[in-house]
Amino acid sequence: MAQRADSAATCRICAGAVEEFVDFGRQPVSDSFVTPERAGSEYFFRLAAGVCTACSMVQLTEEVPRTEMFHDDYPYRSSGSEVMRRHFTAVAESFLAGPLRKADPFVLEIGSNDGIMLRTVKDAGVRHLGVDPSVGAAKIAAEQGIRVATEFFEEDFARRVAEEEGRADVVFSANTFSHIAYIDSIFRGIDAVLADDGVFVFEDRYLGDIVRRTLFDQIYDEHYYIFGVTSVRAMAAHFGFELVDAEHLDVHGGSMRYTVMRPGRRPVAERVTAALAEERTLGLDDPAVYRRFAATARTACADLRALLERLKAEGRTVAGYGATAKSSTVLNYAGIGPDLLPAVHDSTDAKQGRLTPGTHIPVRSPEEFRSAYPDYAVLFAWNHAAEIFAKEQGFREAGGRWILYVPGVHIR
Ligand code: SAM
Ligand code: TMP
Ligand code: ZN
Repeated sequence: MAQRADSAATCRICAGAVEEFVDFGRQPVSDSFVTPERAGSEYFFRLAAGVCTACSMVQLTEEVPRTEMFHDDYPYRSSGSEVMRRHFTAVAESFLAGPLRKADPFVLEIGSNDGIMLRTVKDAGVRHLGVDPSVGAAKIAAEQGIRVATEFFEEDFARRVAEEEGRADVVFSANTFSHIAYIDSIFRGIDAVLADDGVFVFEDRYLGDIVRRTLFDQIYDEHYYIFGVTSVRAMAAHFGFELVDAEHLDVHGGSMRYTVMRPGRRPVAERVTAALAEERTLGLDDPAVYRRFAATARTACADLRALLERLKAEGRTVAGYGATAKSSTVLNYAGIGPDLLPAVHDSTDAKQGRLTPGTHIPVRSPEEFRSAYPDYAVLFAWNHAAEIFAKEQGFREAGGRWILYVPGVHIR
């Protein structure tokens, strides 16, 4: 029987066989919010994900070149959420009170974006370095006095830092490590730059939450890997490190904070063992679980499109809220464009006035949302629901209703 090349994909970490379980078809780079003049110039690829039958790492089967995703014009700004600002202030404070409480400490952050975490470290006068290739975001950090290198973190960069600045007591990375397909270079870099007793701490969307709640739109180009405790433990061991802790976080719809060290430095926390057992119960190593996930995702996309078509036929007005990278997966897969959704409202300056990738829906400000409420609003930033519902109370008070589509389409 003829085999498609992609069905024989091998795991980027352990070289095991990757079983593809979902294919969202031709998709643009999820953060390529284009100006009207440049509409159609987006980079497209086939968005499909699979699970490694050996180490259970969930991963994309096609890699988007990193410079197509992260460049001068990358529009994501971490500090757009008050909840996330508070979250990263607390992260920095915990480092300052913990592993950075020593003589001349040094912290390195991979994917420092607009300085949301390092701001607090800088204010405490602690030696730090952020690294982020997205110049627009990095500039915002630099303007606040944060030290940032506008490069991609990889082995060569890490060696240079170790030589010029010394090794780091903490290497931190949030919602970035999963974006980097070439993870072997990253681990060699961590090996070069992390102090012997240093901690490598990274946070990312958690596979357990994504599978349990069918958060299918967390699958997009930037999320090359979707980490679970089982797969991260195997990955750390594969590269000569040890996973010593895994703390579940509520942010971004469910995340996990992993702490990795050189082997034998610290006893492995009980909650790692507990999470491993829970992942077995959830079936995170079972391709059948992922096939069910994919079927639910397809239904949600079809239902969302059908609902928008019905509302349009009934003469109701609808807008989107939150021009998220996630929304690219659902909009492009369901084929939802400006005919069904005339605008998406978002607070990010760098996205306003642009068009959504692939589907070309105009992005407008939240003020424009408030000046003429639609009857319904699709919440694409569902991970910030509490913050947005509180901010947009007036919409509900004016009779507006929110449409959500994970785990399935519902109105509230
Ligand atoms: N840490 C922030 C947070 O959690 O909100 C930013 C997350 S943002 C989704 C990902 C960031 O990682 C972007 O600013 C991007 O430019 C950066 N990035 C991507 N690949 C990188 C790499 N190899 N080295 C350093 N930063 C990278
Ligand atoms: P994220 O889910 O990747 O963090 O992206 C959230 C998007 O939603 C980002 O473009 C900013 C936008 N947003 C608003 O427009 N208003 C808000 O109150 C919040 C929290 C986010
Ligand atoms: Zn594998």
